[in-house]
Amino acid sequence: MIMYTTSPTPRLTLMAEGYPQEQRDAVYKVIAERRDVRQGFRPGPVPPEVLGRVLAAAHQAPSVGFSQPWDFIVITDRARRERIAALAGRHRDAFAADLPAARARAFDRLKIESILDTPVNIVVSCDRTRGGRHTLGRATQPRTADFSSVLAVANLWLAARAEGLGVGWVSFFDERELAAELGLPAHVAVIAYLCVGYVDAFAPEPELQSAGWARRRPLSWAVHAEEFGRRAMPGEEPVDPLADVLAAIAPPDAEAMAAARERQDRMTKPRGSLGALEDVSVRLAGLAGRCPPPLPEPACVAVFAADHGVHAQGVTPWPQEVTAQMVANFLAGGAVVNAFAAQAGAEVTVVDIGVAADLEPVPGLLPRKIARGTADFTAGPAMTRDQAVAAVTAGAEIARDLVAAGNRCLITGDMGIANTTASAALICAFTGADPADATGRGTGIDAATYAQKIDVVCRGLDRHHPDPADPVGVLAAFGGFEHAALAGFILGAAALRVPVILDGVIAGAAALAAAALAPDAIAACFAGHRSAEPGHAVTLSYLGLRPLVDLGLRLGEGTGAVLALPLVQSAARALRDVATFDSAGVADKH
Ligand SMILES: Cc1cc2nc3c(=O)[nH]c(=O)nc-3n(C[C@H](O)[C@H](O)[C@H](O)COP(=O)(O)O)c2cc1C
Repeated sequence: MIMYTTSPTPRLTLMAEGYPQEQRDAVYKVIAERRDVRQGFRPGPVPPEVLGRVLAAAHQAPSVGFSQPWDFIVITDRARRERIAALAGRHRDAFAADLPAARARAFDRLKIESILDTPVNIVVSCDRTRGGRHTLGRATQPRTADFSSVLAVANLWLAARAEGLGVGWVSFFDERELAAELGLPAHVAVIAYLCVGYVDAFAPEPELQSAGWARRRPLSWAVHAEEFGRRAMPGEEPVDPLADVLAAIAPPDAEAMAAARERQDRMTKPRGSLGALEDVSVRLAGLAGRCPPPLPEPACVAVFAADHGVHAQGVTPWPQEVTAQMVANFLAGGAVVNAFAAQAGAEVTVVDIGVAADLEPVPGLLPRKIARGTADFTAGPAMTRDQAVAAVTAGAEIARDLVAAGNRCLITGDMGIANTTASAALICAFTGADPADATGRGTGIDAATYAQKIDVVCRGLDRHHPDPADPVGVLAAFGGFEHAALAGFILGAAALRVPVILDGVIAGAAALAAAALAPDAIAACFAGHRSAEPGHAVTLSYLGLRPLVDLGLRLGEGTGAVLALPLVQSAARALRDVATFDSAGVADKH
């Protein structure tokens, strides 16, 4: 029904209810069924009138100050498309060369452009100067010119879907290289390169999702009420993100575990001959809820970095600045964890969860600083309870985002000068161990410093009287921000039923906190190695985890856990790939 009403200014305003249901459905349908299409194009041309309609839809997009900054360059010439495809090919190869092994294999299977498979390519450009300096809105936010051209792309993409035309967006270009090929003047930027043609079918879900490259994030992760971080769907109460994560953690699936055990016994090898790896495969099946479980790849190690107030107590000979310097080293690819990760085919992500320095934003660094280091736990709590919860939540969200980005195995890493002291205190608080048994020499300290370190842990415990039934309180008393975030990272992995390989004593201390918050979280944990730190052995036996590697490492960074990645992956692969006595026609032992 349409109503006309008079507004205070004597002008007619069109008042309308929504569209009739059928038309509304069509709008939502086209939005849901629009796809980025890269294969299955028909070679036939697109009639000019259809192309015209689609371009007219693009041209009706909203734009900042009504500047309409877009232009559309329609390309059909084969020779030109060949030159453009070569430009994209070079960047595709460069990107592939930079990927960790499992990602590179997956990328190799993906088709990322259809420049030559489609009859027409359309470039949407942006003139960021159009309309002069008083273009409304753009004066304060110059980027809004680009946003406007992107909206033209969105209109084009939706209209094309309605016409049965597939559209594939290609961004593997050096923007100015492509601009030169198209004769764009210097003030005009390329916004989108679109490959357009008729297709036989539109995939029901994004191709990158069906290929396992990335997953769609649930809407509830993206909707915040009033303030960032206050998650609430319309009409619903805000959810406590940590409570949500804890509620999602459940025991392993007994049926899948039994199936895995039974399959291990039928595999063409003597029963039990894979030793601890058989248990790993059974636990992976229990976690995934199916047998065989998915291969734990791709894998990503997240190195959580933070500084510690207790450093002031002289517990280490290393200056605090080394934390930030090592973060730079991780990001430059120069640390041991980078070498091990490159060898094992894992990606390295670095998280600033509380480094006492300002870090430059660079690719690979997640800026999630809670504070510039903790306070000295011998003088008071290391952090507030709110900070502890914020760090745990940040860790869980990082786990979630890394899984949504396609990772099937998470690996803990850490960096923080003085963090073995905080770990020792946490381990004593959670397990009741004696500080003399749980405190180690960290990076290597003399007898006097070692005695001082034990004394610091004792003083901390005396001061705070930690209650292991209050894990947030324990983390707040002693923790590094990296311990709290790692606890959240473990909980996040467990909630999504993705395996998490634990590194040494810092991850162990964090796992104690995670287990205190949700005992079933340990079902997701695989102890990568046993560190030389004495507190780590205490932790592993307390948690009932068997380390996969025992090489006397005491470096941290995630190094021991990364070394164990191929073991965890091999355990899963054996369960999946090895023939059974009956399938291979091999006689079993009587
Ligand atoms: C800005 C932008 C750039 C993109 N660049 C590429 C690209 O270079 N290659 C590619 O295969 N897909 C590209 N895509 C498509 C995305 O992979 C795709 O939109 C995403 O996987 C979601 O799938 P859907 O569009 O089918 O919903 C791009 C998409 C956008 C929005």
